[in-house]
Amino acid sequence: MNRQKDIYLPGTAGIRPLVSTRADRLEEKARECLSDEAFAYIAGGAGLERTLERNRAAFDRWQIVPRVLRDVSVRDLGIELLGKKRSSPYLLAPIGVLEMAHPEADLAVGRAAAAEGIPFVFSNQASFSMEKVAAEMGDAPKFFQLYWSKSDELTASFLQRAENCGCEALVVTLDTTLLGWRPRDLDLAFLPFLQGKGIAQYTVDTVFQRLMDEPNTGERAAKTPVSWKSVRTLFQQARRYPGSFWGNLFSGRAMRAVRKFVEIYSRPSITWEELPFLRQHTRLPILLKGVLHPDDARKALDLGMNGIVVSNHGGRQVDGAISTLEALPEISAAVGGRMPILFDSGIRSGADAFKALALGADAVCIGRPYAYALGIAGEKGVRETLANFKADLDLTMGLAGCANIGEITRERLKSAEAG
Ligand code: FNR
Repeated sequence: MNRQKDIYLPGTAGIRPLVSTRADRLEEKARECLSDEAFAYIAGGAGLERTLERNRAAFDRWQIVPRVLRDVSVRDLGIELLGKKRSSPYLLAPIGVLEMAHPEADLAVGRAAAAEGIPFVFSNQASFSMEKVAAEMGDAPKFFQLYWSKSDELTASFLQRAENCGCEALVVTLDTTLLGWRPRDLDLAFLPFLQGKGIAQYTVDTVFQRLMDEPNTGERAAKTPVSWKSVRTLFQQARRYPGSFWGNLFSGRAMRAVRKFVEIYSRPSITWEELPFLRQHTRLPILLKGVLHPDDARKALDLGMNGIVVSNHGGRQVDGAISTLEALPEISAAVGGRMPILFDSGIRSGADAFKALALGADAVCIGRPYAYALGIAGEKGVRETLANFKADLDLTMGLAGCANIGEITRERLKSAEAG
C-alpha cells in the first residue's frame, strides 16, 4: 500500500490531492461544484432525513479495540465473494443518474473502479447503458442492479443483457418499488428522469423501444403550462435519446420514452412468490438489496438467493427506518454464514468498513462518496477516493492488530452502550 507515499511525495513539490482524503468532507465540496438540483438529488434523503443521520450516528456506537504486538507487516485485504477472489471487501453501490455529477458519469466511474479492482454495480438508472460501461471496464468485475419493471419482458431483457455484457451477479433492489418522499427534490420540483436523464438502460433496449410504441395504459400526465423551461425539458429529452436530436424532437420519441419509463419502471406488487421468475431468466447469482429484517434474510435463504445487501438506500426511502449498522448483527446471526452479506448506507471511512465487517458483513459498498468525488474531480477524483478507502481500511486493520479481513471479528469492537 503506497497511498500515503503517493500523497506525501508529490506534496514536497506542492501538489495536493484532488479530493479530500476524508470522505465525509466530499459532500461539502461537491455542494460548490454541482447544480442545486444535482446536489439535492445526491445528498438528499427521505422525509426529515432522520435515517440518513442515524446511518452515520450508528457507527459512533461501536468502538474499535486495537490489539498490539501481532505481526501485521504483511496484510491482506482480499476476500472471496460469490466464488471469486476479490482484492478488497469494497464494491461500488449502484447510483443512478451520475450524469448529474459529471458528463462522463458511469463511464468515468467504471474506469476508476476497474483501475482499483473494485466491482462496480451498474445502476438500473444509469446514464450510460451497461454495454457501454462494460466495454470501458474490460474484464474488471461488474454486477447489474435491477429495478423490477411492470413489464416482465423488459425485466427478462435486462437480465439477458447483463449476462451478455459480462456482469457477474444480479442485485435486485427491493426497497424502491415506490419513490420515497424526498423533500429536497420536491422543493425544487425536480426529478431527473423527466428530463430523460438516467434512463439509458431503457432507451437502448429493443423490448423497451417496442413497448414505447404501444398505447400508454397509465394515467395521463397532467397538462403542464408551456414555458421556456418546458421547452428546455423537451430539448434535454431529445438530446439524451439515442439517434438524431432533431429526429427525436419531431418524432416525439424522446418524450414517449420518458412517459413509458414512468409508467413501467417499477412494480410495487412484487412478492416473494415471484422471485423464481428471476431464477428462470438468469443463471447469475442473485442478491437481494434492501434487506433490514432477519426474517427477510431467512426468507432469501429459503428461496435459494445467493446473498443480500443490508441497505436502507442511504436513508432515501423510509425516513425513521432502522440504520443498517443497527440491523446488521441480528441479520448476521440469522444468516449464520450461509450466504454473503453485503452492507451499505453510511460508509465514509476505513474504520466504518472495519466496524461493518466486524459485525457480520462480508463486503461493504461505497455510495455517495464516489458520486461526490466524481462531481468534484471526475474519474481521477473517484480513483483517489477508492484508493483512499482501501488504504484507510488497510491501516485501520493493521493498527487494530488484524493481518487479514478474516481477523476482523466482533471481539475487535466494544459497544458504547456496554459502558
Ligand atoms: C442511490 N442508490 C441506488 N440504489 C439502487 O439500488 N439503484 C439506484 O439506481 C440507486 N441510485 C441512487 C442514487 C443516489 C444519488 C444515491 C445517493 C443512492 C442507493 C445506493 O445504492 C446505496 O444504497 C446508498 O447510496 C448507500 O448510502 P450512502 O452510503 O451513499 O449514504
